[in-house]
Amino acid sequence: MAAPLRYLYNNYSKGAWVRTLHRIYMNSPLTARWHFGVDCPPLDVAALYDITTILLKWHLKPILKEHRDWKVLEIGVGPFAILSGYLSQFTNQPIDTFDIRKDLVESALKTQKMNRLDNVNIFQSDLFANVPEGSTYDLMFWNLPYYADPEKYLAGLFEQAPPFLAPGGTMVLGYNSKPLPRARVLEILERYPKLRLADVRTYPWNMHELVTVALAYG
Ligand SMILES: C[S@@+](CC[C@H](N)C(=O)[O-])C[C@H]1O[C@@H](n2cnc3c(N)ncnc32)[C@H](O)[C@@H]1O
Repeated sequence: MAAPLRYLYNNYSKGAWVRTLHRIYMNSPLTARWHFGVDCPPLDVAALYDITTILLKWHLKPILKEHRDWKVLEIGVGPFAILSGYLSQFTNQPIDTFDIRKDLVESALKTQKMNRLDNVNIFQSDLFANVPEGSTYDLMFWNLPYYADPEKYLAGLFEQAPPFLAPGGTMVLGYNSKPLPRARVLEILERYPKLRLADVRTYPWNMHELVTVALAYG
């Protein structure tokens, strides 16, 4: 990464002016509407979305436009169902999505109603606990809670996900590689032989990245 970008990143994480600008931008209902076409109800959150949300939008939109019949799951819907709400216009069947936090699910349902996001199915679940047995998905995605200890959520994800992936199905994980280095993600992935790394997408202008994980045999 170029020196000026590295400077921005270092300051960003220390709460300097870059971070302030970031907060203002990502906490603006106007930018949320502009990026995702969703009106967010008032809620005391640090940000309505983050850079990973935007990268996932850019990455997944062309894929879904080509595969409108795919069965899709978003993990960690967040307070506004902003990503599934946006992407659901490109799918022929509802995007299933859940969050571990009841308050976020309630807020996401409120946002869904306000914006008439009828092609999204929102429910509460800790990882796959409440996903009906036998459901399979062609595509899963998760903007990871990358400031939390990955052992607490990634290990469980890799353990539980395989039976819910359709043959040829993939899982796209987005994160900021500063708090969560890719090596850490891959180190955990290696413990789960049913899964393999299929792709890594990085960006020259920021340290967020997307990894795609697929079934090792399928
Ligand atoms: C970075 S936020 C992503 C929010 C939103 N999807 C976005 O892209 O802006 C990560 C989300 O994962 C949720 N989460 C964390 N652990 C989870 C778990 N075990 N099961 C389901 N959701 C979880 C968090 O509550 C949080 O809403």
